[in-house]
Amino acid sequence: MPIPKAELHLHIEGTLEPELAFELAARNGVVLPYADTDALREAYRFEDLQSFLNLYYELMAVLRTEQDFADLADAYLARAAAQGVRHAEIFFDPQAHLARGVDMGTVVEGLWRALGTGEARHGVSTRLILCFLRDESAESALQTLDAAKPYLDRITGIGLDSAEVGHPPAKFREVYEAAAALGLRRVAHAGEEGPPQYITEALDVLGVERVDHGLRCMEDPALVERLVRERIPLTLCPLSNVRLRTVDTLADHPLPAMLDAGLLCTVNSDDPAYFGGYAGDNFDAVGTTLGLSEDRLRELARNSFTASFLEDDEERRAR
Ligand code: ADE
Ligand code: ZN
Repeated sequence: MPIPKAELHLHIEGTLEPELAFELAARNGVVLPYADTDALREAYRFEDLQSFLNLYYELMAVLRTEQDFADLADAYLARAAAQGVRHAEIFFDPQAHLARGVDMGTVVEGLWRALGTGEARHGVSTRLILCFLRDESAESALQTLDAAKPYLDRITGIGLDSAEVGHPPAKFREVYEAAAALGLRRVAHAGEEGPPQYITEALDVLGVERVDHGLRCMEDPALVERLVRERIPLTLCPLSNVRLRTVDTLADHPLPAMLDAGLLCTVNSDDPAYFGGYAGDNFDAVGTTLGLSEDRLRELARNSFTASFLEDDEERRAR
């Protein structure tokens, strides 16, 4: 029995497995520039975050209808449930779809078609987190928040993702203030490829409650001390870090040092279809390669519920 856990860093578009990509391409008359699923998998060799993002955005072309988004989310829930995920806080990237002529309603209602019954069918409760693309303008983020207003009963929070370096959190101050005024929870990717200052800025300027990745905090002891003192959760993604070359090998991952420092770490999958594993695979990999004890793995699982946006009674039921 896998350890019950919550997944807090998961891009739904990053769960698009090659088989489903080809199935949706055929359904929608989209021609992919790969002969078959093996040829597509061959393309999954990344130099860095940007080289991954190029493929990630390219493959989204197959997602066109509500049913496509529902099928994507349903496939994720089935895989996550099999690996012990009881709760998932799921990112989606509406700007990448709006730019292709797929509207906000198609994306949100499509995802909801699967997520709304995810607890009954798969035993996985969910929350949706709308991410802004940080390599798009602040104005575009504001327009995206506006487009999401009819769907706020489906959306718990906002996040910030895509190419990090050169796009500091402060660029999005206004949209984060507007989202906070609407009662939305706030998270942001920071310190994945970007410097530790981006983590500080995400906390101080955007008011985030949780930092996605946050890996590079380890370069700044005063920041580590602050994150420990303020109990700020970090949503780490070890297999992603290896595939995107943020760390050289999994054996070099700073997770053990981060736990020893007292950081509130969680382990997540990021884009599991691209990085070689879902949440349970990430737990297994860090357990084996980093030699984490069963107690440490259970601590990581406990942290995932503590760091989630579940209410106390929901959290108790999910654990
Ligand atoms: N979008 C999807 N995966 C991402 C990641 N690891 N970092 C930033 N943006 C992303
Ligand atoms: Zn991510």
